Amino acid sequence: MGSAGLNRARDKMRDAGVDEVAIETFAHYYRLLEHGETGMIPESSIEPVDIPSLSDVSVSEEDAAEAIRRTAVIKLNGGLGTSMGMDRAKSLLCVRRGLSFLDIIARQVLHLRKVHDATLPLIFMNSFRTSADTMAALARYEDLAVDGLPLEFLQNKEPKLLAKDLSPVSYPKDPDLEWCPPGHGDLYTALRGTGLLDRLIEAGYERVFVSNSDNLGAVPDPRVAGWFATSGAPFAIEAVRRTASDKKGGHFARRKNDGRLVLRETAQTLPEDQAALADLDRHQFCSTNNLWFDLVAMRDVLDARDGVLGLPLIRNVKTVDPGDTSTPEVIQVETAMGAAIEVFEGSQLIEVGRDRFVPVKTTNDLLVLRSDVYDIGQDFVLDQVSVELPYVELHGDFYKLVGDFDKRFPDGAPSMRKASALKVDGDFTFGRGVQVVGEVELAAKSAQRVEAGTVLSEAEPTDG
Ligand code: UTP
Repeated sequence: MGSAGLNRARDKMRDAGVDEVAIETFAHYYRLLEHGETGMIPESSIEPVDIPSLSDVSVSEEDAAEAIRRTAVIKLNGGLGTSMGMDRAKSLLCVRRGLSFLDIIARQVLHLRKVHDATLPLIFMNSFRTSADTMAALARYEDLAVDGLPLEFLQNKEPKLLAKDLSPVSYPKDPDLEWCPPGHGDLYTALRGTGLLDRLIEAGYERVFVSNSDNLGAVPDPRVAGWFATSGAPFAIEAVRRTASDKKGGHFARRKNDGRLVLRETAQTLPEDQAALADLDRHQFCSTNNLWFDLVAMRDVLDARDGVLGLPLIRNVKTVDPGDTSTPEVIQVETAMGAAIEVFEGSQLIEVGRDRFVPVKTTNDLLVLRSDVYDIGQDFVLDQVSVELPYVELHGDFYKLVGDFDKRFPDGAPSMRKASALKVDGDFTFGRGVQVVGEVELAAKSAQRVEAGTVLSEAEPTDG
């Protein structure tokens, strides 16, 4: 069935107008999938990395200013936020009254353009599912698009494959759900396929800064641009030191046989290497997904490989309708953008502060971001005003999906400037102006209301 499945998938992509290189890229990963490729990276084949820190490198103001003037900014915005129950881009969510992630990203860039006299194009990589909403939300920024360059480009789409035989799934009830974006590793294929890579080079840009649209800490900082430009590296990723909560996630390492930097994800770690994966003293750095690359170096590598970078495969198992687990199980063939670090000789890592890494993966993260622990200033950069970031854990089915979460916080997040932790287990609805102080745990078996203005400062009694 395997090859027949690939042929059917190819035909389906052709009929939908997907370009040939994207189809061949998909076919490459399909074959890996068919052959049971696991992409495992054994501990014995890697060693820990030792990397420079941005706070220790000196970058002159001229180098920084020069570098940012030749930088274009790309925001990854093709994902659907399915883990938070969304079927739209996460960046449409509000962070402050009237300000979404998209508004803040646009304003950060508009501000930097003014201050540094830079054109700094801002371009969104959307998927077929996120384009219309995103462009409508950005329409109010008339000056955002830079002459001759688009404000978005579309990533490719590929068929979801039935887990039982790897054939393209059919779902007449909602044929859109037969397709998925191929992960953010598709960035390179889409940049080349849409012609944008060449256009950026022709327009005089030398490098791009790419980051997730759900990370408002990922400001196109001239100092990092200056560091990257003067390093001479073709490709670099900003790394942060792993903490206890990153134990289960991926990390950077150096491959012993060729000295290349690699990104090892949890799914690429053998069961016997799990302890090494979790060893924060050994593997100290993880990825922010803030990434810099030289445009010409990228074009050369892609051309040399006929457009197929050959990144490690990620086999993502979901149901065809992610919101309905009774629908057939499918496999989505994906790749991750950061894995391209191993493609380039001379790739580099730079350690940056946590201020450049504020990802929103869960509603716990969203609650912190919406609270007053961050100020947003004139430059629209997040400014952490509390000494520590509170640890938030919202349990149960009441908060996981954004719609349910919003109902529990109808007047916004509580004040958490003085909070160290907030753990909630049960159905609590928060009134306006609730304040959390220190470590607070709430638990209840029936629905509760935290009245407006309440100061929560210790474990609240439960109703049993
Ligand atoms: P994530 O995988 O963390 O988030 O992507 P997601 O796809 O938004 O959410 P889930 O996994 O469905 O819950 C990190 C960034 O990469 C983008 C996302 O939009 C987000 O900014 N992305 C992800 C793409 O642009 N394309 C993709 O195919 C996948």
